[in-house]
Amino acid sequence: MSRQNIFDNETFFSGYKALRDSDCNANDLIEQPAMRKLLPNLNGKTVLDLGCGYGHNCIDFVNSGADRVIGIDISEKMLAVAKEESANDKIEYCNMSMTDISKLGETFDFIYSSLAFHYVEDFATFAKDMYSILNAGGRLLFSQEHPIITSTVDGAGHFNKNENGEKVSYTFSNYNQPGERRVHWYVDGVVKYHRTFSNIVNALAKAGFVIEEVCEPTPEEWVIEKVPAWIKEYIKPNFLIVKARKEEM
Ligand SMILES: C[S@@+](CC[C@H](N)C(=O)[O-])C[C@H]1O[C@@H](n2cnc3c(N)ncnc32)[C@H](O)[C@@H]1O
Repeated sequence: MSRQNIFDNETFFSGYKALRDSDCNANDLIEQPAMRKLLPNLNGKTVLDLGCGYGHNCIDFVNSGADRVIGIDISEKMLAVAKEESANDKIEYCNMSMTDISKLGETFDFIYSSLAFHYVEDFATFAKDMYSILNAGGRLLFSQEHPIITSTVDGAGHFNKNENGEKVSYTFSNYNQPGERRVHWYVDGVVKYHRTFSNIVNALAKAGFVIEEVCEPTPEEWVIEKVPAWIKEYIKPNFLIVKARKEEM
């Protein structure tokens, strides 16, 4: 199976870094606050962060009491930043695809992933692999681009404006046609995979997970005060967040 490593593309890497360094990006203002509210108690726990990027979450897990954290990323460039900005004795960074996690030969109390699962082609197999390396009673918490965002085949989902220039609705298509999408994001041909909401939930349930919470975050009041343009998020969600557990035996 071919896996794209777009974050090692120099143009893409620089564009994405500038986005994340800005203080009004949706990750920091909308997705991360919602994810933080769903974190389990990490005291003494082992954690696996899939698509860890710069490793900022790995550091947070150690600061929240985790004993050991493994951060996996397919991009050497992202891991170079992680090793520079987010180094810690309790964290190990591995340059590998998250679809190879069964080769790790370790089990974990908590599997976390922020905005990386839409790069995985075969989610049903991946969900089973995650379940098999999660300890009984362990939690999975992940975010991904919302299916409304991943759906449109040419990547051209878009807002529509009223006569006053205000965004009032959002057009998307191809929702019930799961599969590969090639979109322009800093560069042409960025590969993501669209799955419907039911595809995602059913893959998790069939793997054995118990869904604990699903969240489609909207901006909190302080976010709208800081960046009024994010009011557009009330029209449609950008992110899908799922928290699930593996039952105690
Ligand atoms: C949008 S970034 C998110 C990074 C980090 N989780 C965060 O929230 O700051 C997605 C990350 O997933 C990584 N990624 C994409 N496909 C991957 C794969 N098959 N295996 C491991 N990492 C992957 C990318 O290299 C990138 O670092």
